[in-house]
Amino acid sequence: MKTRAFLLPVAYAITSSPGVISHPTEPHHSSAVQLIVPKDDSGASIAHSPSFSSFSFEPAYWVEFFGNSTSPNPLAFRLLDLIHQHGGRPIIRPGGITMDSMIFDPKAGESVRETSKAGGVYRTTVGPAYYESWSNFPNGTKFVSTLNFGNSSLDIARDMALASVMYQNDLVEYFELGNEPTNYPKARWNDSTAAYVQQWKSWTATIDTAVNQEVAKAGEAAFPGERWWASSATTDESGLNVRPADIIPAGIDSAHQVAEYSIHSYPFSTCDPARAALATTSNILNHTGLAVYADNEIYPSAKAALDSGSKWVIGEFNSISCSGNPNVTDTFAQALWVIDSELIYATRNASSCNLHQGAALVFQSSDQVNSAASDGSPGYSTYDMFYPTNTSLRGPARVLPSFAGQLFLAEAFATNGSRVTSLAAPAGVDADRFAAYAFYDNATVSKIAIINMQPYYANSTSDFAVKINIPGAGQSHHGWGSSSQTYVKRLTAPYVNSKNATDVKWAGQTFEGGVPSGKVQQEMLAADGTVTVRGSEAVLVFLK
Ligand SMILES: *[C@@H]1O[C@H](CO)[C@@H](O)[C@H](O)[C@H]1NC(C)=O
Ligand SMILES: *[C@@H]1O[C@H](CO)[C@@H](O)[C@H](O)[C@H]1NC(C)=O
Ligand SMILES: *[C@@H]1O[C@H](CO)[C@@H](O)[C@H](O)[C@H]1NC(C)=O
Ligand SMILES: *[C@@H]1O[C@H](CO)[C@@H](O)[C@H](O)[C@H]1NC(C)=O
Ligand SMILES: *[C@@H]1O[C@H](CO)[C@@H](O)[C@H](O)[C@H]1NC(C)=O
Ligand SMILES: *[C@@H]1O[C@H](CO)[C@@H](O)[C@H](O)[C@H]1NC(C)=O
Ligand SMILES: *[C@@H]1O[C@H](CO)[C@@H](O)[C@H](O)[C@H]1NC(C)=O
Ligand SMILES: *[C@@H]1O[C@H](CO)[C@@H](O)[C@H](O)[C@H]1NC(C)=O
Ligand SMILES: *[C@@H]1O[C@H](CO)[C@@H](O)[C@H](O)[C@H]1NC(C)=O
Ligand SMILES: *[C@@H]1O[C@H](CO)[C@@H](O)[C@H](O)[C@H]1NC(C)=O
Ligand SMILES: *[C@@H]1O[C@H](CO)[C@@H](O)[C@H](O)[C@H]1NC(C)=O
Ligand SMILES: *[C@@H]1O[C@H](CO)[C@@H](O)[C@H](O)[C@H]1NC(C)=O
Repeated sequence: MKTRAFLLPVAYAITSSPGVISHPTEPHHSSAVQLIVPKDDSGASIAHSPSFSSFSFEPAYWVEFFGNSTSPNPLAFRLLDLIHQHGGRPIIRPGGITMDSMIFDPKAGESVRETSKAGGVYRTTVGPAYYESWSNFPNGTKFVSTLNFGNSSLDIARDMALASVMYQNDLVEYFELGNEPTNYPKARWNDSTAAYVQQWKSWTATIDTAVNQEVAKAGEAAFPGERWWASSATTDESGLNVRPADIIPAGIDSAHQVAEYSIHSYPFSTCDPARAALATTSNILNHTGLAVYADNEIYPSAKAALDSGSKWVIGEFNSISCSGNPNVTDTFAQALWVIDSELIYATRNASSCNLHQGAALVFQSSDQVNSAASDGSPGYSTYDMFYPTNTSLRGPARVLPSFAGQLFLAEAFATNGSRVTSLAAPAGVDADRFAAYAFYDNATVSKIAIINMQPYYANSTSDFAVKINIPGAGQSHHGWGSSSQTYVKRLTAPYVNSKNATDVKWAGQTFEGGVPSGKVQQEMLAADGTVTVRGSEAVLVFLK
């Protein structure tokens, strides 16, 4: 369908010239550029829900992140409560590499992680208390019941599925068998897509029967037939082709078991020195590069899923695999990266993006940048949005700069049913360093997200500020929204490499310790519909 652009006469501001004297605090560029926003939602994404921005947590570290059923980790739950207060309803996937060596023991108490000297996880044993701890999450939180495929034991996988519905039948939304089968030992399926599909279908059918019997015995509501996440592949080329684009034509859903196809997205890596050299702030903030990765590696699978009539999700993702890059992912840059990445996938019709949180897994690579702490405590991933406990390697438990990005996303997706469309960089603005998106509710523009991805450092010679004019979005409104309330919330930090959450502000507030500090600031949009966004800043414009 053809999209009508909303074009009103604009005060195309005067081009700055050397003779123009500007106030020192004024942005570098004084000329406004125009952001063109289609007036209707034709061409926009599927309808998104407040669960779009969701999470994946490495299950071996569950107790560190969330405590147990009787002693929850207060910092973690303050952060989740904040996300809910800002409108988010994240789904929780206790998933990742360590789910493939996890086992349920009905007699187990505290979760036990068996590790090598260097902190490699051989096995995680969980008992009823693990599932009971799910009750500590905010009301309405749904979970993915993740099952061990790695140990090649149908009994282990089935018993985890049964335990999840025995203890938390109401909270289980999906089941998932195995994490990143692309990285299993070659001998498991000898690179045969058909062998993988055959085993997945045989196990899931057996588990479905067992779960259905258990649920019926307990008198609980039956699960829908379509309850599985399928694939859970990475975009690594391992020889085993089991991305959604591979397994859909191979007949994975012939028995109608798949609820959503899952694929994992890590555009950068510190798993080896060659890739670590590319895992820089400059590269993770390149919008063009992120979109190219999404289109080349992820979208063919997304399209295969959508064409087959199914939903798809980014089942696990983060910026830099093998636990991030210190001084890159533990800075404000990560907040900007998360926002742009989730919006890239929102416009490509993902149903959720599950941001991964965890710790360095030393068996993942012998050549990686990160490690566990020397005393065996977790080497928390530097892409995490918080460090849940004190550790010798990462220091005190604390909130990291990227957390505030989750509040931006929670508010952006707060209205159930919003559709998103990506907006072209205005003329004269570097499209590698700029991203903007419009949100539509009931076909009307409700919000606009703008991300200026220019890395801005203390030593930068420009602040890279862009003055953006959104035609028609000023106070006087020409057909935007339903009321006259137009305002801006700003996500900012002193510099792109700011590392302390006390410096990171969302709408004027900081969130150190998971406690809001300061007053909420809603800036009025200038009457002519302009907003200035500095390098390494993002704004959310609310139009109704
Ligand atoms: C829960 O954690 C507390 C504090 O660490 C501990 O005392 C208690 O034994 C744990 N309970 C279970 C069931 O693991
Ligand atoms: C699962 O496999 C891992 C090796 O991949 C092994 O260390 C672990 O002991 C196995 N777990 C069980 C429960 O057999
Ligand atoms: C949880 O939400 C449901 C539905 O909105 C509501 O009925 C229930 O009272 C809530 N429970 C708590 C503990 O807030
Ligand atoms: C994979 O190949 C090896 C060696 O040829 C063989 O022993 C094994 O049975 C094969 N596995 C499968 C699943 O076909
Ligand atoms: C961004 O990435 C694109 C595509 O990978 C590349 O062509 C371009 O040079 C990069 N831009 C910057 C500013 O690094
Ligand atoms: C991170 O930056 C700090 C401050 O510039 C520096 O002291 C530290 O060595 C850096 N760490 C790494 C792993 O590069
Ligand atoms: C997303 O879904 C919408 C609505 O069904 C459709 O019009 C659009 O083409 C899809 N976009 C992509 C990138 O698949
Ligand atoms: C964690 O470290 C902080 C200081 O950084 C200290 O106040 C706190 O008591 C420590 N917590 C634990 C459980 O050791
Ligand atoms: C969003 O709306 C859909 C469709 O009406 C509904 O199924 C879903 O539960 C809603 N989600 C939330 C988080 O309100
Ligand atoms: C669309 O309008 C209906 C009826 O006014 C309202 O209930 C619903 O919340 C709106 N949906 C969105 C996404 O704004
Ligand atoms: C500016 O500061 C950054 C971060 O400290 C540093 O990596 C970069 O080399 C500096 N650039 C110049 C030109 O000094
Ligand atoms: C962050 O800054 C505050 C206040 O400036 C300081 O007290 C705190 O120690 C800093 N935290 C870290 C992790 O550097």
